Amino acid sequence: MATLLRCSSIFLVAFSILFHTVLSLTQDDHHHATVLTLELIHRDSPVSPLYNPSETHWQRLSQSLRRSHHQHRIIPHFRGKDVESPLSFSGGEYLLNISIGTPPRTLIGIFDTGSNLIWTQCIPCKECFEQKTPLFNPASSQTYKALSCGSKQCHLLPQASCFSTQLCHYNYTYGDGSYTIGNLALDTVTLNSISVRGTIFGCGHQNGGIFSGIESGIIGFGSGAVSLVSQIGKSVGGKFFSHCLVPTMSTQTDPNISSKLYFGHQVSGPGVLSTPLLLNGIDTYYYLELQGISVGGKRFTIDVDSSQDFKGNIFIDSGTPITYLPTNLYTSFEAEIRKEVHLEVVKDSMEYYLLNLCYKTMFDITDPIVTVHFNGADVKLNLENTFLRVSEDVVCLAFGPTSNETFTETSDLGIYGNVAVTNFLVEYDLENKILSFKPTNCTAQ
Ligand SMILES: *[C@@H]1O[C@H](CO)[C@@H](O)[C@H](O)[C@H]1NC(C)=O
Ligand SMILES: *[C@@H]1O[C@H](CO)[C@@H](O)[C@H](O)[C@H]1NC(C)=O
Ligand SMILES: *[C@@H]1O[C@H](CO)[C@@H](O)[C@H](O)[C@H]1NC(C)=O
Ligand SMILES: *[C@@H]1O[C@H](CO)[C@@H](O)[C@H](O)[C@H]1NC(C)=O
Ligand SMILES: *[C@@H]1O[C@H](CO)[C@@H](O)[C@H](O)[C@H]1NC(C)=O
Repeated sequence: MATLLRCSSIFLVAFSILFHTVLSLTQDDHHHATVLTLELIHRDSPVSPLYNPSETHWQRLSQSLRRSHHQHRIIPHFRGKDVESPLSFSGGEYLLNISIGTPPRTLIGIFDTGSNLIWTQCIPCKECFEQKTPLFNPASSQTYKALSCGSKQCHLLPQASCFSTQLCHYNYTYGDGSYTIGNLALDTVTLNSISVRGTIFGCGHQNGGIFSGIESGIIGFGSGAVSLVSQIGKSVGGKFFSHCLVPTMSTQTDPNISSKLYFGHQVSGPGVLSTPLLLNGIDTYYYLELQGISVGGKRFTIDVDSSQDFKGNIFIDSGTPITYLPTNLYTSFEAEIRKEVHLEVVKDSMEYYLLNLCYKTMFDITDPIVTVHFNGADVKLNLENTFLRVSEDVVCLAFGPTSNETFTETSDLGIYGNVAVTNFLVEYDLENKILSFKPTNCTAQ
C-alpha cells in the first residue's frame, strides 16, 4: 500500500524551454529505425519569442526561479489504485511545438511527463485562457473526428465518460488548479515530417489555470495509453524517447544551443547505465529505485523496503530543476558536502529560492564528485549537475530534502530533477521498462 502525497507547492521550476519541432529526419544505421529529432529551445534563448535582450543572464535566471516558484503544474488526480494522488508538476515551461489537423495547425503545448492527455483549446470556446496562436477549429480540419462515448478509445482515459451527450466527454484537472473540459477526439498529429493519423486528443471547450500565453494546451508524455509517446511510438520506431538537456542555467552555455528530444533513437554504446523504470501500474509516472548517494568515496545508503507493493522511492521529472532526496538521506549528504567544501557558506539561502546550501565563490566547485546510486546504475554527476551558480559570486547545491518540497503528509518520495540530468542522454524505454543514462556533451549533439 502506498502512502502518498499531496503537493501544494514546489519551489524551483526553472528551465523554460520551448520545444521547437522541426529538425532532421535521418536513418539510424545501427537500428534501421526512423529517428526523429526535435529541438528544445530554452524559453530565454535568443531564438524564443519571449527573449528580452536587455536582461542579463542573472536577471533571467532569477526570474526563471521566481516564476517557477509560483507556477508549479501538478499532475491530474487519480482514481482508484493504492496511490491516492501522486502529484508532481511539469514546471509548465517546457514547450513542444507540434501541429494538429488537416491542414495542420500549430499546437504549442507544455511538455509534461507527469500526465497523459494531449489537449488544445478548441472552438467553440465556453471558457478559454489567452493564447498566441489561433484556437483550433475542429470544423476546419478534414481529418477531425469526435469520439462517441461508447467507443473503445473513450475508455482509454479514466477521466472520460458519457455525460449528457453521445460524445466522449472528459474533465481533466491538475493539482495546480489547471483544468480542461471537452470532448475526446481523433485527428492527425504532425511532428516535423511525421504525421500520425487518428491520434486521440482532448478538444478543450472549457479550460483554465496557469498558462503563460504562448501555449494552447498540454502534451502528456506519461506512460499511459493516450500520451503522445504511447500513441506515436509505432510511427517513430518504438515506445521510447530520450532527451539531452544542455545546462541552460550555466553562464558557460551558449544560449543559442538547444536541447534535444529524440524518438526512435536507442541509447547504446559504452557508458550506458540502466535502471528499472518502475511504473507501479499507475500509468503516468516514471519511478526509480534510489539506493544511495556518494560524496567522493563516502557512500550513504537508503533502506529499500522490497516487501512493499509500491516500488521506487524517487521519480524522474524533467520539469523540476532541483533534485529532492528523501530527507534522512539528504541530511547525511548535506553534512558530508559541508565537510568537504571549505568555502564561506552564505547564510541567507532563502534569497536563492529555498536552496538549502549556498557558498560565496567566484570559482566553480570541482570537488567532491557526487555519485547517485540507482538500482543497477551508479550515475557519476558532473559538476554542473551538482552545483548551480545563482549569481556571479554564489553557488548552491542543486539538491534539497523532500521535506522542503512540500510533498507534505507522509510521503518521502524524491524527485530527480533536470539539473541532475543535463549533459546526460536520458532514455525512457516504456517497452522494456528501463531508464538509461549516458554521459553526453549535449552541447555537441
Ligand atoms: C512553431 O512551428 C511553426 C511551424 O514550423 C512555426 O511557424 C512557428 O513559428 C513555431 N512557433 C514557435 C513559438 O516556435
Ligand atoms: C470536473 O471535475 C472536477 C474535479 O473532479 C469537479 O470539481 C468539477 O465540478 C467538474 N466539472 C464539470 C463541469 O464536470
Ligand atoms: C545567438 O543568436 C542570435 C540571434 O540569432 C544572434 O544575434 C547572437 O549573436 C547569437 N549568439 C551567439 C553567442 O552566438
Ligand atoms: C528545508 O529543510 C531543512 C532540513 O530539513 C529545514 O531545516 C528547513 O527549515 C527547510 N526549509 C524550508 C523552507 O522548508
Ligand atoms: C562540449 O561540446 C562543445 C561544442 O563542441 C565544446 O565547445 C565543449 O568544450 C564541450 N564540453 C566538454 C565538457 O567537453
